[in-house]
Amino acid sequence: MSEQDIPLSRPDISDLEVEMVALTLRSGRLALGPMVERFERHVADRSGCAHGVAVSSGTAGLHLALQALGVGPGDEVVTTPFSFIASANAILYVGARPVFVDIDPCSLNMDPARLAEAVGPRTRAILAVEAFGNPKHMDAYASIAARHEIPLVEDCCEALGCSHKGRACGSFGRVGVFGFYPNKQITTGEGGMIVTDDERLANVCRSLRNQGRAARGAQTPGDPQAALGTWLAHERVGYNYRLDELSAALGVAQMRRFDEIVARRQAVAQMYMERLIDHPELILPTVDPESVQSWFVFVVRLATGWSRAERDRIIASLRRHEVGAADYFPCIHLQPPYRERFGFEEGSYPIAEAVSARTIALPFHSGLSERDVDFVCQTLALMMSREGLGRG
Ligand SMILES: Cc1ncc(COP(=O)(O)O)c(C=O)c1O
Repeated sequence: MSEQDIPLSRPDISDLEVEMVALTLRSGRLALGPMVERFERHVADRSGCAHGVAVSSGTAGLHLALQALGVGPGDEVVTTPFSFIASANAILYVGARPVFVDIDPCSLNMDPARLAEAVGPRTRAILAVEAFGNPKHMDAYASIAARHEIPLVEDCCEALGCSHKGRACGSFGRVGVFGFYPNKQITTGEGGMIVTDDERLANVCRSLRNQGRAARGAQTPGDPQAALGTWLAHERVGYNYRLDELSAALGVAQMRRFDEIVARRQAVAQMYMERLIDHPELILPTVDPESVQSWFVFVVRLATGWSRAERDRIIASLRRHEVGAADYFPCIHLQPPYRERFGFEEGSYPIAEAVSARTIALPFHSGLSERDVDFVCQTLALMMSREGLGRG
């Protein structure tokens, strides 16, 4: 039936990326060089923040952000159960306890009213996620955090280029963290970036990503500009969470093409919307009129009444027809490490669980043609009707 394999995601790599990576390779400077700084400037500017600190992954960025804020054992961090597991894992890395809050079924982000109730005397931070890049409620979370005088950490890994009420994602919290895995709006292969207006926090993160060296110390082992002894001087216990120059060069090229890439993703999302809007059994992603979406993924939901098993079979059939599809996201609290450690059960966060049982992420990247989108939508409709018939 399928004429071609349509993958779930694919990075948008042009000659510019290839040239910039090749140029960097030839430069001989593969770590701690000028590309990282250039990439940091691009992402910080795009997210309306003063400082960018490039790191080796979004997960590493979340870890450092929480550690730099001083979150630690005995603290609670309020967060969403409907995200990629790294959001909550970062809370465990620093020894704190995640307190989950159920979601609003429309935006798929934490319900602000429930969030306000969940903040208690042990809450040390709020870690909010723009689910699938939807920035709705970020302003409400920022107000709740301000009222309680606790920091908002924005896990904006899925939201580069998104905004809400004119404010760019990354700038809602004390600190924001982007991710650049190849399925994201732009990629560095692996990579991430911490953004903030807080210079002190940025410098602590710079130090932590670089083995605890001084933020503005020696840049390379033999740095001629630096005083002897600064490369092997460590102010704190840090990590090697640096982003290398090749990845940063890829990131710079991607940022130079950012508007073009996002416009293409918006056009693909529009194609899906037009073809699926009238399907009576599908719930499409909502875009708040006050938000701009740069489209991380395109996730539809089966209507209430469809079961998880039916959804899983539809995904399996799509894949058999070479249409990439996925179950974004299984709830974090029901993953074994969280169930075992905190005793969560099915029913703990019913809205997130009901949503999670019916989502289907469809192929989504800037290279999809109208023909590809037609094929995906037709195959989806066919698989749904076959599954529906099988119900008897
Ligand atoms: C919401 C969210 N948080 C954290 C991460 C982790 O980012 P990375 O895969 O770069 O470590 C991702 C991405 O995969 C994500 O989607």
